[in-house]
Amino acid sequence: MTHYDIQDWRRTYTGRAFEPRDLQIINRIGNPMQRILVMNSKGGSGKTTLATNLCGYLASKGEQVALFDYDPQGSSSHWLGRRAEQLPPIHGVEAFRAPPSGATRSWQMRLPPETERVIVDAPAGVGGVLLMDLIRSADVVLVPVLPSPIDLHAARNFIIELQRHGRQLGVVPQLGVVANRVRRRTRAYQSMTHALGEVGLPVAGVLRDTQNYVHAVESGRAVVELPSRAARQDRCDWEHLGGWLDREQAACMAYPEEVKRAQA
Ligand SMILES: Nc1ncnc2c1ncn2[C@@H]1O[C@H](COP(=O)(O)OP(=O)(O)OP(=O)(O)O)[C@@H](O)[C@H]1O
Ligand SMILES: [Mg+2]
Repeated sequence: MTHYDIQDWRRTYTGRAFEPRDLQIINRIGNPMQRILVMNSKGGSGKTTLATNLCGYLASKGEQVALFDYDPQGSSSHWLGRRAEQLPPIHGVEAFRAPPSGATRSWQMRLPPETERVIVDAPAGVGGVLLMDLIRSADVVLVPVLPSPIDLHAARNFIIELQRHGRQLGVVPQLGVVANRVRRRTRAYQSMTHALGEVGLPVAGVLRDTQNYVHAVESGRAVVELPSRAARQDRCDWEHLGGWLDREQAACMAYPEEVKRAQA
């Protein structure tokens, strides 16, 4: 199985041996594009919640977003199907399905030319060729982790495996853990932040444990798109995560210039 049509994505800097994540991918109208893979081998950690809310958050900022659903459960496609027409649009691809008869895989996986962010919702327990394809085609991997010792232990092993595959493939996507379903004052959360600090994993964001996520999914929205004041704290959480992703992208874009300056 092949991932979406990477051959069509031109790179701004060629002819030098940069690490792939240091090469800025641009879209077909010449603007930067960031590919974000949401993945964790463990079921129920919040992959779909994170992927769909990220899409809604970015679209509400006026960005052109594409959502690739690789999970045969089709949960993020179902969320997109519920999204009202008045809300900012998101391009959806049911990547878990075979292309319709008469169509090619690359036609099915095509992106609108102006796409600025690609979000991939991966299934639990993904492995083999699909895992390799997904890692190869990501600039950033976000790993949602629940605040429990068992989940943290599983996530740590998963991240080690991810890094090993990345080295095999010669790609180094940036990793960010997203602590999900967090109750900030609990001991479980405090031990989680402590443990993450000890293993040196970057924390890209923290999402509260709140029914707002359940209400949002019912109407094809992100929590930031809920009209209620109850989601104020969640908007802050999303600004934080959005800022982390923007800094990642900016660092990636700055890198070749720094190399050029160092060589001058
Ligand atoms: N921050 C949160 N606050 C409250 N509920 C949440 C939160 N994140 C996820 N949930 C709930 O937890 C459940 C699992 O979340 P989700 O479907 O996003 O996980 P997943 O990792 O995609 O699962 P799967 O492995 O089955 O694809 C859902 O019912 C979702 O509404
Ligand atoms: Mg899911």
